[in-house]
Amino acid sequence: MTHRTNHQIRLAARPSGLPTDANWQHTTEPVAEPSEGGVLVKTLALSLDPAMRGWMNEGKSYIPPVGIGEVMRAGGVGEVVASANPKFEPGDIVSAGIGVQEYALFAADQIKRAGLVKIDLRMGSLTQWLNVLGMPGMTGYFGLMDIGQPKAGETVVVSGAAGAVGQTVGQLARIKGCKVVGIAGGPAKCEWVVKELGFDACIDYKAGPVKDGLKEHCPDGVDIYFDNVGGDILDTVLTRINRKARIIICGAISQYNATGAVQGPKNYLSLLVNRARMEGMVVFDYADRYGLAIAELAGYLKDGRMTSREDVVQGLQNFPETLNKLFRGENFGKLVLQVAKA
Ligand SMILES: NC(=O)c1ccc[n+]([C@@H]2O[C@H](COP(=O)([O-])OP(=O)(O)OC[C@H]3O[C@@H](n4cnc5c(N)ncnc54)[C@H](OP(=O)(O)O)[C@@H]3O)[C@@H](O)[C@H]2O)c1
Repeated sequence: MTHRTNHQIRLAARPSGLPTDANWQHTTEPVAEPSEGGVLVKTLALSLDPAMRGWMNEGKSYIPPVGIGEVMRAGGVGEVVASANPKFEPGDIVSAGIGVQEYALFAADQIKRAGLVKIDLRMGSLTQWLNVLGMPGMTGYFGLMDIGQPKAGETVVVSGAAGAVGQTVGQLARIKGCKVVGIAGGPAKCEWVVKELGFDACIDYKAGPVKDGLKEHCPDGVDIYFDNVGGDILDTVLTRINRKARIIICGAISQYNATGAVQGPKNYLSLLVNRARMEGMVVFDYADRYGLAIAELAGYLKDGRMTSREDVVQGLQNFPETLNKLFRGENFGKLVLQVAKA
């Protein structure tokens, strides 16, 4: 029997505004062996997501909040190190709701709920399984394809363009024959989006009014807006939409740390005028179709029509400050916390 120690990061208190060290508690405990049907996973890398900020809040959402004292919720990839389940064996690389900890012990009845599945590293690298082939990629795929329903020749605008969801959305829209315009913060991100991802243009929202960029790069208006940020940018895009436009409400990161009321869209009457629609989405609703999307996206990664970028930070103990990079725009690509090497 191997003696292992688990370092964990737990939610200590609910934040107001941007999380601080006071919101987190670092704990250590021994790791138990799996009981019958269970699996023990060693964490290799964790997905750091803007949604984590929402999970820290009290109140009703699409998923219950993380409880005070609980290990912080996180998706991740890991290696099976002990198994009492015939479907998994030591050495298997898996993806699951692991939590911000070095080891995750799954009892038999938790395996399905935690989404514990083997992943195939021939389809994509470990970090791509947290990006294009993981939750953000699924979000971009189903948000664009199911809600956006892109048609060749249409103009697609995506905010958070250099981030995890944004990079899948823009590249996929381009593959589907659309004109793609990104919105991102800073010249480096905008240059990457155009030069490496093949977007037609990218508007640096920190450099000047988004409205001017939309006028210049979307002279025929906007047919699909994939919104990752909400706030003023959503309001501005609403003034440029076409008749029957589709707006995918994926996220509103500009509002996640608001201490007052969330800023809603002032220009929503544009939906009426343009007979347009705005629809929210939650990626987990598409779980039964992930396999199809993964196969398609892995094909694009393999044949070079798609690429990906991950921003990898080392060390479980760096979770608190690394999470906040998302809200400061300091991540360049999908933010990943590497916890151990395979
Ligand atoms: N609905 C779902 O099921 C679902 C699933 C996954 C993700 N999401 C949402 O999708 C969005 C993107 O998530 P992601 O994982 O791909 O994150 P990400 O784009 O990789 O990282 C967040 C980025 O947001 C931008 N940002 C931060 N504060 C901003 C502000 N005040 N105004 C404008 N942009 C700001 C920053 O990029 P810049 O440097 O370009 O500003 C930052 O790098 C988030 O809103 C997230 O909650 C939704």
